Amino acid sequence: MADHPLLTADPKASYLAHAAEIRAAIDRVLASGHYILGPEVEAFEREFATAQGGGHVIGVANGTEAIELALRAIGVQRGDAVATVANTVSATAAAIEQIGARLTFVEIDAATMVMSAATLERALVEAGGTIKAIVPVHLYGHPAPMPAIVELAQRHGAKVIEDCAQSHGALVAGRPAGAWGDAAAYSFYPTKNLGAIGDGGAVYTRDAELAERVQRLRQYGWRQRYVSEEPGRNSRLDELQAAILRVKLGALAAENETRRKLAARYLERLGQAAAAGARRVTLPAVAADVRPVWHQFVVRTPEREALRTHLAERGIAAGVLYPTPLHRQPAYAQPELHLPETEQACAEVLCLPVHPALSLADVDRVSDEILGWLCS
Ligand SMILES: Cc1ncc(COP(=O)(O)O)c(C=O)c1O
Repeated sequence: MADHPLLTADPKASYLAHAAEIRAAIDRVLASGHYILGPEVEAFEREFATAQGGGHVIGVANGTEAIELALRAIGVQRGDAVATVANTVSATAAAIEQIGARLTFVEIDAATMVMSAATLERALVEAGGTIKAIVPVHLYGHPAPMPAIVELAQRHGAKVIEDCAQSHGALVAGRPAGAWGDAAAYSFYPTKNLGAIGDGGAVYTRDAELAERVQRLRQYGWRQRYVSEEPGRNSRLDELQAAILRVKLGALAAENETRRKLAARYLERLGQAAAAGARRVTLPAVAADVRPVWHQFVVRTPEREALRTHLAERGIAAGVLYPTPLHRQPAYAQPELHLPETEQACAEVLCLPVHPALSLADVDRVSDEILGWLCS
């Protein structure tokens, strides 16, 4: 029998793993007659906040709007500078652009591929106090260096909004990613570690006033129904997605543990022989104080297309997150800006299958194919 195809992410498998509970949750919502911002959203907000160690969660329509509303809530306005990285999905920049704020891209750390605190410091010094907010992205499930970023932000009078779209459940120095900055933005896009069956997002913060402001901004600026205290919008999480997310939240810790086991197997198998081959593959680095959640398992090779094709021919999908850094994309182009580490990472990264529906045998199969390619 031919080997089954391996996908980079498998939202259908994630549904099937919890099908009975999800169907029961959907039935419960359908029968309730409450479909937008009701008891399921409130319960999910409470339960997700508890999983974060306390604080407030505000469910919103998607991760992009979670970033935007968090930035607006801390006071970012048109013309303000916001620092972030360029090796992220367009959504991070889109949220900043929606406000009319200015994007300041800073360089990444060569090993971990998340925001470099040293280059952030240079950007903050050069900007002379004009950077209003910093948006570190915990890319691939590996958090940015939050202790250093928070310290720099305080020293330079900037706020911090963590982009946690890929880091549900990750830890930095024992504290959840998302609990370091002024607020954090989550996406529940179906392929995320905590994924809905549709769009969804949330803002997390330990600041009650900030939470109230986000709550107003997500629904027309209302505190009281039909009274807009400030300009707001519609960015609501619906009851069906919240009920499904409650099911998925219950499985998040165990599924992250599965991802860690799969990643450990990749590191063990590929670590043994990666150095011995004629070709070169670099394995992902994990910072000392970080517990990642392996949203992606990302290797690097200057021969990315060759390896990708080799795997594809053997039924193994490998993704490229992200092929073009934001400062080289038409919408956000900054031709004068050079970010060598970011540009090199985008040219070399290859995401291997890592999701909870995979087995160790699947990882062995991918590893064997890569080891064979390395020595070919
Ligand atoms: C790093 C990052 N930021 C933001 C987002 C935006 O989330 P959404 O697609 O829910 O708007 C995503 C998800 O695609 C993401 O991966």
